[in-house]
Amino acid sequence: MTATIISGKQVSEEIRGSIAVEVKALAAKGVVPGLAVVLVGEDPASQVYVRNKEKACHDLGFYSEVHRLPAETSQADLLALVEKLNSQNNIDGILVQLPLPGHVDEKAVINAIAVDKDVDGFHPVNVGNLVIGDDSLLPCTPAGVIELIKRAGISLSGKHAVVIGRSNIVGKPVSLLLQRENATVTMCHSRTANMAEITRQADVLVVAIGRANFIDASYVKPGAVVIDVGMNRLDNGKLAGDVDFESVKEVSGPITPVPGGVGPMTITMLMQNTLLAAKRHHG
Ligand code: GUN
Repeated sequence: MTATIISGKQVSEEIRGSIAVEVKALAAKGVVPGLAVVLVGEDPASQVYVRNKEKACHDLGFYSEVHRLPAETSQADLLALVEKLNSQNNIDGILVQLPLPGHVDEKAVINAIAVDKDVDGFHPVNVGNLVIGDDSLLPCTPAGVIELIKRAGISLSGKHAVVIGRSNIVGKPVSLLLQRENATVTMCHSRTANMAEITRQADVLVVAIGRANFIDASYVKPGAVVIDVGMNRLDNGKLAGDVDFESVKEVSGPITPVPGGVGPMTITMLMQNTLLAAKRHHG
């Protein structure tokens, strides 16, 4: 049996369509959502991500500013730029592309971003609000995972969701969002014993470990939903997920591909967060 493929590309286009409608309505009131992206240094993957964000802004009619700074930029200069963007009325969202060069204290930079402009959802106040279930700007990839599951018509209530990976960017926040949707959540990570025994109990398996093709069919219960957050560049230049798609799709239920699954959702949720921030700032 071959599983249904959940197309993040298609869902992403649907959501972008709705965002474009809202942007038009805001423009009639003289409001243009604005996103500032800060890139320090020349990491090739980061350069691609930043270009994609710039393009999404352009396509959706957002105002965008990209600040490309040399790798040797001092922490003081970076903090000064963040402060300037915090005070700019035409900027609703600020994203500092990670990783930052080693001499810069990443935490200090994230903490300097105004909480209501933190469209990455990485500021400790937004993280804390996520934990206690208060309104916050949600981190983009985890929010994209939940949106993808919901729009595929899959109910999470009462389901056993297993998350593999415990990072601050994906594993931890996605587990909180799954709980918010009334799933029963188990977290696995690199030190988990008998992992396949646990993952085979999952109705919904979310994989965010950063190891190409790590999860094969032996980890998956027949019919389970499989969401692959992995983005691994192989030696041949191709992109691979954390899930061995070809083997897993023979046993799983609905499954996301890589590329074209969670990836496109991340930038779409960034645009959604920036729109939400703009409505709050100018509403
Ligand atoms: N680098 C890789 N992923 C991300 C992300 O989601 N946000 C930021 N700011 N940097 C990243």
